[in-house]
Amino acid sequence: MCGIVGFTGAQQAAPVLLNGLQKLEYRGYDSAGIAVLDGSTITVRKTSGKISNLVEKTDGGKNCRGTTGIGHTRWATHGAPTDINAHPHISNNGKYAVVHNGIIENYLELREELIKKGFYFESETDTEVIVHLLEMYDDGDAKKAVLKTASKLRGSYALGVLCSDEPRTIYALRESSPLILGIGAGENYFASDVTAIVTYTKNAIYLEDGEFARITPDQVEVFDPSGHTVQKKISRISWDIQAAEKGGFEHFMLKEIFEQPRAVKSAIEPRIRDGNVVLDEFDVSARYLQGIKKIIITACGSAYYAGCASKYAIEHLCGIPVETELASEFRYSDPLVDKHTLVIVISQSGETADTIAALKEGRSRGAKVLAIVNVVGSTVAKMADWVLYTWAGPEIAVATTKGYTTQVAVLFLFALYTAKKLGRITDERYASLIRSLTSLPRRVQQALDMNPSIPALAKEYHSFKSLFFIGRNTDYAAALEGALKMKEISYIHAECYAAGELKHGTIALIEEHQPVVALCCNKDIADKTASNIVEVKARGAEIIAVAFRGDQRILSLADHVISIPKIETMFSPLVEIVPMQLLAYYFAKENGCDIDKPKNLAKSVTVE
Ligand code: AGP
Repeated sequence: MCGIVGFTGAQQAAPVLLNGLQKLEYRGYDSAGIAVLDGSTITVRKTSGKISNLVEKTDGGKNCRGTTGIGHTRWATHGAPTDINAHPHISNNGKYAVVHNGIIENYLELREELIKKGFYFESETDTEVIVHLLEMYDDGDAKKAVLKTASKLRGSYALGVLCSDEPRTIYALRESSPLILGIGAGENYFASDVTAIVTYTKNAIYLEDGEFARITPDQVEVFDPSGHTVQKKISRISWDIQAAEKGGFEHFMLKEIFEQPRAVKSAIEPRIRDGNVVLDEFDVSARYLQGIKKIIITACGSAYYAGCASKYAIEHLCGIPVETELASEFRYSDPLVDKHTLVIVISQSGETADTIAALKEGRSRGAKVLAIVNVVGSTVAKMADWVLYTWAGPEIAVATTKGYTTQVAVLFLFALYTAKKLGRITDERYASLIRSLTSLPRRVQQALDMNPSIPALAKEYHSFKSLFFIGRNTDYAAALEGALKMKEISYIHAECYAAGELKHGTIALIEEHQPVVALCCNKDIADKTASNIVEVKARGAEIIAVAFRGDQRILSLADHVISIPKIETMFSPLVEIVPMQLLAYYFAKENGCDIDKPKNLAKSVTVE
């Protein structure tokens, strides 16, 4: 996903822009660039590849003089990751420069129109149409040119604009892509997310869709699409840059794996008061919940698997059917949704395009939407009827870990809260499950501490080209996420299968020494999974089992056992995923992969 950053103040802009772009690297990118305004001259420096190439090209920012500028990390959508396609793009007359995160859906017709009017294009990107529209509509008033240009664009954009007629001024526009303003002392900023500005200021303004800002060192004005001033409140960013640094860990992913006991505690603890689950942000009546005939959980990737992991608890406790739907499928499936459906969307970033579209689809058919989100003020959080934040803190690694476990934790809270509201749970069972839920942070810590052998397992099996993950019911749900973690950071093909399905085809693939990760933490059906282990072992598989500590049957069957502490079956996916995160991490380390920024992946997929 692209990232944009902008600065205007008294100090040189280039070093601030480069630092901001480095903080946005985790979003995934393949080229980068900056544009700096010095008096009436815009200097552009851009390059394919890493930001380190840009630092070298600009001599650490020294050969880009000026105190006003914009920057960009590009995750290629239209046009290959080349120097020419990198942002910023500049107008033919050199007066405007633009950086953009999003997709201009009507760029082809605009491109044709502009070429007919004599503008020439350097790049293959959709973005470049913006900078030529600015030139076309420029009559000496940059604000008007910005307004007019924005009215012609269809699609999603977070835009940063420089105009050489307006030294010390940057413009920022938002439509369906995140954009934040940073308010400093005699200097001001814009950025795609707070990690790029929190070094400099913790005072932020979250732009809404359609709004745009004119920013100078001493003033930040926000306007609506008709150009009228909008009063915006300044929010305080609740964490500091250390939270977005590695803190002594080799990778952000490992740091975030070990942050999970705290993160899960942050998600749960504030919502348990006097022995009850309290969801102030989901203040629905029992009557509304009694009218819910179906819950649809929709999301992408790990967020979707968090929904799969919580489905069992919600259905078992609330007695409401739960359907889990991939957002990219749900949005085009003509879904059976009405006012008796509760749609739950899950998103760490709150900016995933398919999930936003699924949210809109659900609402358009009469459902109310509950969002489970980590990033405060994100698009999903703003659009939903209710939002339960996961309070995981900033998650920098592309592969989510604490984002996932805190999503599952909040969904378990939702299940208990709803069951209690519906009167479907005895006081005794309710109290017991709350005790189990509040023990989860400690269980996660134990799971982290319990398996020093995981790095050795990675050394033994990392060179295999494929892995199988099997499980049943809640174990199957956890195995789905375990397989994704393995795929996305170690680049090993990892297939997750419902253990009972093996004999219907996949077992044909089991050969001598084939590693199979078998999850056996659902005590209600562990004997069935045990028989599946026997099946694959008989065909030469080597079993890495995930089981409760001291499970003698699994110890006797498996070649290797990864232990977790005993936990209530319905809550087990939250704990059994932890060793699988570590397994994926150490496999990836053995394979020399770029663990925090896996190839081809972005932290949030803001395009279809
Ligand atoms: C998870 O490790 C992946 N990075 C990816 O599957 C992610 O979960 C998915 O893109 C959804 O992102 P979101 O939670 O920000 O919506």
